[in-house]
Amino acid sequence: MIILAIESSCDETAAAVVENGRTVRSSVVASQIEEHRRFGGVVPEIASRMHTEAIVPVTAQALEQAGITLKEVDAVAVTYAPGLIGALLVGVNFAKGLCIAENKPLVPVHHIKGHIAANYIAHPELKPPFLCLVASGGHSHIIMVEDYTRFRVIGRTRDDAAGEAFDKAARAMGFPYPGGVFIDKAAAQGNPKAYPLPRPKVADSEFDLSFSGLKTAVINQLHNAQQKGEEINTNDMAASFQSAVVETLTSRLMTAAAQNQSTAVVVAGGVAANSGLRTALTEACDKHRLTLYMPPLSLCGDNAAMIGAQGYYEYLAGNTADLTLNARASMAV
Ligand code: KG4
Ligand code: ZN
Repeated sequence: MIILAIESSCDETAAAVVENGRTVRSSVVASQIEEHRRFGGVVPEIASRMHTEAIVPVTAQALEQAGITLKEVDAVAVTYAPGLIGALLVGVNFAKGLCIAENKPLVPVHHIKGHIAANYIAHPELKPPFLCLVASGGHSHIIMVEDYTRFRVIGRTRDDAAGEAFDKAARAMGFPYPGGVFIDKAAAQGNPKAYPLPRPKVADSEFDLSFSGLKTAVINQLHNAQQKGEEINTNDMAASFQSAVVETLTSRLMTAAAQNQSTAVVVAGGVAANSGLRTALTEACDKHRLTLYMPPLSLCGDNAAMIGAQGYYEYLAGNTADLTLNARASMAV
């Protein structure tokens, strides 16, 4: 079965052609990051307008690279939630237009479920059930994936997402947006024990996450040092911050895997690209005899191939939509 997938939930306009949920025939991603960088974050209206300009050429390129026409596609999958509403609406309405024109089934896909499904592309042997950490710019969830379309949320962030904390801490350290990757690079040269930072905890929950206190602690330390005229070593601060995030995520995941008798641990989302997190999870999973699945860096960030992968399983489960489908800015997993 061949799915044409569309993703426009944030600042990447993406289209992909995916066969049977596992084989990527083409994947095109047009990033708007350069445009948003000068504002220090994603500007929703600019995002919507840029999606409107990019969506037709990006989709045409995805079909061309796959060597097929729209007529040969079996269904159109589209991210419909969660995300920036104006950005999502561009993709949803475009997908509807394609479905009207060629009388194809429309498959709505939840963005976070798409991130998880990136791993089905990277690891052909991977099948649910497994425990998954989804850590991106907008979301941080620990989820038991019971089946391809059945999910049980075990923990989630109460405030900032992990990627958001990376980006805000990075901004305070003077890095460009989005700063996660700059912290990653700086941390590799720094001492993670140089600056004492809190390990985020949520008093009434073992698995919920909270990153805003950690982010504020970094901002306060930088501010205090500046007031006193003291030098802060950015590499050391990056390493100290990153290790606080990585230790928190790793320990929560190991406990959740034990409690849920999961032998497989999967990571997904933009923060899954973090080299400190990848190393720590590799070591922890080795120690606890868990099989670890991580997507390649190209499938960590937003893309449409992951939407095509999840779209396949949603289609098989009968989860198609009619042409009244609407976008939703927020939606539980
Ligand atoms: O999944 P994604 O592309 O978009 C959302 O759905 O939010 O995630 C983007 C997030 C950003 O916050 C970015 O800074 C973070 O992922 N990120 C990283 C790294 N690469 C991307 N964070 C830490 N280390 C990285 N290497
Ligand atoms: Zn995402």
